[in-house]
Amino acid sequence: MSRPLSQPGDELGWHDNVGSRNSTNAMSLSQADFRKAMGAFATGVSLITVDVDGEVHGMTANALTSVSLEPLLLLVCVDRRARTHAHLHAKKRFGINILEENQRAISEYFARSFQSQSGAEQETGARFDRTAHGTPMLHGALAYLECGLKSTQDAGDHTIFIAEVEEAVVRAGAPLLFFKGNYWKIGVEVEET
Ligand SMILES: Cc1cc2nc3c(=O)[nH]c(=O)nc-3n(C[C@H](O)[C@H](O)[C@H](O)COP(=O)(O)O)c2cc1C
Repeated sequence: MSRPLSQPGDELGWHDNVGSRNSTNAMSLSQADFRKAMGAFATGVSLITVDVDGEVHGMTANALTSVSLEPLLLLVCVDRRARTHAHLHAKKRFGINILEENQRAISEYFARSFQSQSGAEQETGARFDRTAHGTPMLHGALAYLECGLKSTQDAGDHTIFIAEVEEAVVRAGAPLLFFKGNYWKIGVEVEET
C-alpha cells in the first residue's frame, strides 16, 4: 500500500533531529525524515473518485493543489503502485471530493488497499451520486470538482496527474484536516496583528 508523506503516529517535536543533505552534515535525509518534515504542512483531505465498470473506486489523497486559473487546472500526485494510478490513466476523468470534518472514516476506508463501494457504504455510510459525466460524487463532501485529465508527468515513484476542472460544487461546512500524521478539525482563526 502506498502511504501519505505523513503517517499516523509520526510525531516530531520542533527540537527533534532530522537528517540533512547540506554539505556540512554527513547525515543523509531519510524517507522518514522527509515524511516528518512534510507532515508539518497541514492539508485538507480529498477523495479521488473514478468510475470503474459502474463501480465507485476511491482513493484518499492529500497531495493535491490548484495549478492554474487560465485554464482551470489542478494536480494530484498518485503512487505508481496504487490501483487508482491505472484507473486514472484508463478513464481520464475523475472527481475530487474535499472531505468534511465528519468524514474521517471515509478517508481511512479509502486509504486501504482492499475496498469496494459496498464495503464503503456498509462501514462508513458513504453514499455516491453520479455527475452528468458518470463520475462518482461523494455525498456530504465540502466540495466536489469534476476533472478531465490533461497530462501526466512521471515524478519518482509517483505520477503527477494534471487535470482541467470542468465543474465545481461547494457546500457549507468545515474541512477534515491532516497534520503530522493525525486528523484534525479546523481551529480558531488567527487574528491580524
Ligand atoms: C491522509 C492520507 C493522504 C494520502 N494521500 C495520498 C496521495 O496524495 N497520493 C497517494 O498516492 N497516496 C496517498 N495516500 C495513500 C492512499 O490513499 C493509499 O495508498 C490507498 O490504499 C491507495 O488505494 P488504491 O490502491 O485503491 O488506489 C494517502 C493516505 C492518507 C491516509
